[in-house]
Amino acid sequence: MGGARALNPRDDLRLFAVRTATGVVVYRNRCPHAGFELNWLPDRFLDRDGRHIHCQVHGALFDIATGRCVAGPCAGKHLEPVPLRILDGDLSLDGAH
Ligand code: FES
Repeated sequence: MGGARALNPRDDLRLFAVRTATGVVVYRNRCPHAGFELNWLPDRFLDRDGRHIHCQVHGALFDIATGRCVAGPCAGKHLEPVPLRILDGDLSLDGAH
């Protein structure tokens, strides 16, 4: 499993990407529990073992591939996915408005 990285193409558009075994997933950086950004430190979006996305505010854990909260105060809710395409090695964020 790879790492995670913040993507902030605009001041009002806060995203992050996580590398998976099969590609890359991108989510809006907003926790479905209380709406905070998930990370306190730059590019720190995963738990210690890198198996889940981790909200550092109240501890929710999310499945990396689906964005579904599997533990914590928003269990069953989802991070908002952002569709992406990879064009000539560059990410193109189709759904980021
Ligand atoms: S804001 Fe993310 S778990 Fe509460």
